[in-house]
Amino acid sequence: MDRLEPVTIRAGKPDDSAACAQLWGAAIAHRDVGRSAEEIEGRAIGKLGREWAALVVASANDGHIIGFSLLVPEDNDQSVRSAHLSMLAVAPDIQGSGLGTRLLAATQDEARAKGIGQLTLRVLTANTGARRLYEAAGWFLSGQGRFEDTGRAFTGYALTLAGP
Ligand SMILES: CC(C)(COP(=O)(O)OP(=O)(O)OC[C@H]1O[C@@H](n2cnc3c(N)ncnc32)[C@H](O)[C@@H]1OP(=O)(O)O)[C@@H](O)C(=O)NCCC(=O)NCCS
Repeated sequence: MDRLEPVTIRAGKPDDSAACAQLWGAAIAHRDVGRSAEEIEGRAIGKLGREWAALVVASANDGHIIGFSLLVPEDNDQSVRSAHLSMLAVAPDIQGSGLGTRLLAATQDEARAKGIGQLTLRVLTANTGARRLYEAAGWFLSGQGRFEDTGRAFTGYALTLAGP
């Protein structure tokens, strides 16, 4: 990780979508051994091509993207604007170095700055590492279910953001 410092965390642009999708493919194929990175990347391109609430990227000293998060709009309940954390990933070779924690904090700050009052996410129940990350950042359990496409069990989390 030191060789990549200083790492910059910044708002993402549409131009960053392809690199983020590629990183997502690599991170999920690393997590779910046996799945095709290309197929996962293809679906990520679709998600990144739709409307965002925010894209936050982390780039290394040479400019290449080493982590990102995507927030997408969620139906609001008329009083609180809310968004859904659709993706959070760090390049496989630097996971466990604290970048996921930094990215999540930056994502929450970005949401707060945009006037979003509530964040939600769904994470694979078996993804205990990621669940610890969200719990350490103060997210609370909001439910459980199964993803419609894969049937795999998920745990829902939510976070209420304090106003400015
Ligand atoms: C989840 C993810 C973004 C975390 O990024 P990261 O840079 O590795 O996270 P950090 O180094 O900040 O770790 C923070 C905490 O998360 C936990 N954690 C994260 N990933 C972990 C892993 N693979 N194994 C064990 N613990 C993990 C640890 O508790 C860690 O706390 P600690 O340092 O006190 O032990 C990264 O592992 C990833 O890209 N995973 C694949 C994509 C994914 O599953 N995303 C989440 C679902 S949307």
